[in-house]
Amino acid sequence: MAIMLLEVADYAEMSRQAADIIIKQVKEKPTAVLGLATGSTMLGVYRELAADHRQNGTSYRLVRTVNLDEYVGLGPDHPNSYRHYMNEHLFSKLDIPLHETHVPNGLAADLDEECRRYERLIDEVGGIDLQLLGIGCNGHIGFNEPGTPFSSATHVVELAASTRKANARFFPSLDAVPRQAITMGIATILRSRRILLLASGEEKAEAMARLLEGVVTPDLPASALHLHPDVTIIADREALSLIPKEKRWVDAP
Ligand code: F6R
Repeated sequence: MAIMLLEVADYAEMSRQAADIIIKQVKEKPTAVLGLATGSTMLGVYRELAADHRQNGTSYRLVRTVNLDEYVGLGPDHPNSYRHYMNEHLFSKLDIPLHETHVPNGLAADLDEECRRYERLIDEVGGIDLQLLGIGCNGHIGFNEPGTPFSSATHVVELAASTRKANARFFPSLDAVPRQAITMGIATILRSRRILLLASGEEKAEAMARLLEGVVTPDLPASALHLHPDVTIIADREALSLIPKEKRWVDAP
């Protein structure tokens, strides 16, 4: 089975179950390389990881992390940069050495070289053991918008108007949302040994219905996950609300 789908009641349950999988991974392999994501979907998971670290002492001292993406033009001090998000919501709450956490550098003078450096970095840390993914309303993963070739490595993207609009809630205005980002490519994501995709809320229902239909097409970047041998999806009832019950346990097409 390539994709295992876990249906949960709500956001809180999704967050707990996802955190359990990540904690298990880190306990099994203390030197694990975690691929991380940002956005609203991940906040609950990161809260759970922080609470577990505080209460149970799970250690991230030997863990390394690589994030999926970063806005071009925003540095670590910018409140909307993904580096800032990660430091604030996760890294500062764990015992992970900050220099072992990696996010693409959105301020790099040579963005193409930064993309190549990021690919090399992922290889140098030994590849990603567990990659965490959210999903965009248009089916994007990372910032791989519809139409991105499945063979893509880390690259610079022009953000889709719908994605900028969806993310405008974090910025003072739509105009303030960057127009470009650096993202791991779809091929980069597919090289991860395991993938965990999370989806919550009815705004994700259409993308999830298309994903679980099983048609593999660059029009729906997340559908590339059907080509991977070890994907777990944890989605809440609202995110699965457009999928008939009998289809809620899926295999690869
Ligand atoms: C974030 C990322 C994006 C988000 C997606 C969902 O690093 O790569 O693909 O996972 O846009 O965002 P939220 O969780 O805010 O709905």
